[in-house]
Amino acid sequence: MKKKIAVLPGDGIGPEVVAEAIKVLKVIEKRFNHQFIYEFGLIGSAAIDVTGVPFPEDTKTLCESSDAVLFGAIGHPKYDNDPNAKVRPEQGLLEMRKQLGLYANIRPVKCYDALLSRIPLKPEIAKGTDFIVFRELTGGIYFGEKGRTNNGLSAFDVCKYDKQEILRIAKLAFETAEKRHEKLTVIDKANVLETSRLWRETVQDLAKFYPDVTTEFLFVDNAAMQLILNPRQFDVILTENMFGDILTDEASVIAGSLGLLPSASVGSKYALYEPIHGSYPQAAGKNIANPIGSILSAAMMLEHSFNLQVEAAYIYKAVDEIINTGFLTQDLNAAEPKTTQEVGNKVANLVFEEIFELV
Ligand code: IPM
Ligand code: MN
Repeated sequence: MKKKIAVLPGDGIGPEVVAEAIKVLKVIEKRFNHQFIYEFGLIGSAAIDVTGVPFPEDTKTLCESSDAVLFGAIGHPKYDNDPNAKVRPEQGLLEMRKQLGLYANIRPVKCYDALLSRIPLKPEIAKGTDFIVFRELTGGIYFGEKGRTNNGLSAFDVCKYDKQEILRIAKLAFETAEKRHEKLTVIDKANVLETSRLWRETVQDLAKFYPDVTTEFLFVDNAAMQLILNPRQFDVILTENMFGDILTDEASVIAGSLGLLPSASVGSKYALYEPIHGSYPQAAGKNIANPIGSILSAAMMLEHSFNLQVEAAYIYKAVDEIINTGFLTQDLNAAEPKTTQEVGNKVANLVFEEIFELV
């Protein structure tokens, strides 16, 4: 199989973790006789430095002409404490999501048994957790009208959703729930927000077409509590943009580290794969960042964009193996930390050498 991958390493630890994902993909190419062509593009602060904008036209064209996009991270501290900055790296990510129509952000969260002793939650609470969050990605308060009035002394961010925007991601979430444990939890704030009431109404109507799926609704404040009180109750979670952003950072604690979690951002035409962690500037260039989120994002790309299930399974198995043996970066192995590159090499070697019994 021949595929073109747009690679957008971005800022901070982005380039380091993406390099490890590519290392693993190259082994997949060799072992399974595929050809992946990697074309690099600029995004975020790295793009602003060169072109003045965070999502240059060339990068957009590259994404549109590729079979999938592999993305690292975005953000630079030099913009964080400057509320007057005219351009911000994060705008690049938001523009890219919007312009490529990536409306569904799929974030799987799973608790690895081998990490139970290293996570802040009690093992009996976290053990066996395995759910997927469908976060709406191109609507809501992130993309509504925003601005200042009253000589700059008042500010507003509008949260708006159309029924159609809710329907298309809800369908994906229901289809996934059908294939898993047939439970969908919709998280909203329908006791306060009109947009949430539209979400509820729309999902309730759609639920009739998925009779095998049990649909539940939770208010976001309660959901935030339930996530750490009883995370095993969840199978598929469906939620709007900002609630999804917040809840998935919270959920990463159950997995053990934000550095472990991959994601897929899909639309009707394009798909992008990115770890859920950010640019983690304090770690940039130090070879200490956890590359697993990026490596697993590459596995999701093989699965969802290229339909290479067996190849992806090799990566999942290799990652399971390094987690089981504790061959991990400092976020998960403070006593004997491995470097970003060591972890990437180990996964790559396992994918290349081991003969897995794939079920
Ligand atoms: C994420 C990030 C982004 C978001 C930021 C960097 C704009 O936190 O992908 O979760 O809020 O969506
Ligand atoms: Mn986030």
